[in-house]
Amino acid sequence: MLKSSPLISALLMMLCWVAPSYAQNATAGKAVFNKCKACHQIGADAKNGVGPALKGIIGLTAGSVEGFKYGKDIVSAGKKGLVWTESLVAEYIADPRGFLRTYLDDTTASAKMTFKLKDAQQRLDVAAYLATIAVSETGGADAQAAPKETRTIEEVLADQVFTEEFLSDAANIENGKVLWFKQCTLCHGYKAYPGKAPKLKPKKYKPNFVFKRVYKGFKKMPGWRETYTIDEIRMIVAYIKSQNFAP
Ligand code: HEC
Ligand code: HEC
Repeated sequence: MLKSSPLISALLMMLCWVAPSYAQNATAGKAVFNKCKACHQIGADAKNGVGPALKGIIGLTAGSVEGFKYGKDIVSAGKKGLVWTESLVAEYIADPRGFLRTYLDDTTASAKMTFKLKDAQQRLDVAAYLATIAVSETGGADAQAAPKETRTIEEVLADQVFTEEFLSDAANIENGKVLWFKQCTLCHGYKAYPGKAPKLKPKKYKPNFVFKRVYKGFKKMPGWRETYTIDEIRMIVAYIKSQNFAP
């Protein structure tokens, strides 16, 4: 028989340490929520966008935010009794369609939310963040309001650093794509009225050039700094510089 040795106790302790710890963290979740912002607003003045406003979503029946045009399956799930808890939201955002298929026991169910958040810790964190917005009357608004920009336009431009990691992040590219099709294709792109704006030549641009044009505007191109946050404009840049971009 093995005698209990210090080595074995040390190994046993290590086994305990490597067990994943999934404590949720609302503060970290606030940063994760940047990935959702292209489609969801949060806080007192939140409006429906590509996705429904998520103010007070924890405790709400699925598919019931007023004025939002949901897919039919999430509405059915709500009728069947689906009420959002933190852990259900964390499950849903891993794979909205798979979640609805399981919940409704229907292999043809579909979801209008195509975004999936792969990281389990980030899912718990962002769900915990959503819960803080649900309980706090004004916290939502405070959490949402971007701190007032005190830098000059030139200073903001000078502060932008685009790493390879940022530019290749799938969530950034996906969010940027949604914004591009929401706004920019009014003038740019294959669907726009010809001659309204030049066809973009992404290979020729440095990321900072694209950021500058979008943040500041240039001649007939309006600046978008009142419409989009700096984070959102950065995600548009990631999309335009990605392989997925179709000018
Ligand atoms: C690309 C756009 C997009 C992104 C990004 C996105 N969502 Fe959604 N989301 C939607 C749409 C659209 C719906 C409505 C789904 C439907 O009708 O089937 C939705 C629905 C939801 C719902 C259910 C709301 C309800 O009223 O029942 C939750 C919760 C949610 N999203 C959370 C998130 C979180 C958290 C993130 C970020 C991790 C996120 N979403 C990212 C588009 C998006
Ligand atoms: C109202 C029409 C309009 C909209 C909407 C618009 N643009 Fe533009 N954009 C222009 C015009 C016009 C130019 C050319 C400006 C010039 O060089 O005189 C331009 C130029 C650009 C350029 C520089 C192209 C070059 O080769 O010099 C970029 C990058 C750009 N737009 C990105 C965007 C993005 C990203 C969006 C969405 C957030 C957007 N634009 C929305 C009209 C628009």
